[in-house]
Amino acid sequence: MIIVDFHSHVLPNMDDGSTSTSESIQMLKEMKGQGVDKVIFSSHFYPSSEPMDYFLERREKRFDELKNCINNNSIPEIYLGSEVAYFKGISKVENLKDLCIEGTNYILIEMPFMVWKSFVIEELYDIVEDYNIIPILAHIECFFEFGNKKAIKKLAKDGFIMQSNASFFLGKDSKTALSLLEEGVISVVGSDSHNLTTRKPNLGLAIEVIKNKNEKLLAKLFDNNQKIMNGAKKRI
Ligand SMILES: [Fe+2]
Repeated sequence: MIIVDFHSHVLPNMDDGSTSTSESIQMLKEMKGQGVDKVIFSSHFYPSSEPMDYFLERREKRFDELKNCINNNSIPEIYLGSEVAYFKGISKVENLKDLCIEGTNYILIEMPFMVWKSFVIEELYDIVEDYNIIPILAHIECFFEFGNKKAIKKLAKDGFIMQSNASFFLGKDSKTALSLLEEGVISVVGSDSHNLTTRKPNLGLAIEVIKNKNEKLLAKLFDNNQKIMNGAKKRI
């Protein structure tokens, strides 16, 4: 059984996450201490701020810098990915695969913080149909307040992957988080950790909550993790 952190901003100086290699290494050690086996570096990609090639080059460079500073084994396995902010025309980007979790057909997408118009949802279906890439929608609980819960449930039913942050399981809405996991709406969890203070690694704590609720639920989560990570390219 493997624990995968599907959402993190550990890679230094890429976005509003970690600001140094030493902070990143501390975050990784903390994750390992919480029982995390694999972590995906999902740095923000904002297509309006930089071209994709530039982002990918920058990600590679930052990863090399971090790798050169890692000198022991007490960290989780590392995988590269991205958190792509939805933009109109995303389904027309031919090299979208480059933003997937490396070696897989899964891409983490941050949806707009508003009611999702029908053309936005249609683009998600187009991504699957045209490129055989499956969107993982980031921190879905952030979109309930905009009235997107019904759309989220329909998307989950149609095979899209819904990711929740660990904090959803740890806060006042923990019961809702657990029942959405039970219903199969939420498939994967991530820390969305940015640093060691205000948004720190906390996936291990959410795993405890899930385990205490129902061991079978935890097994289901592990199955989902396994399925998505099958074939993923390990960097460390
Ligand atoms: Fe994020």
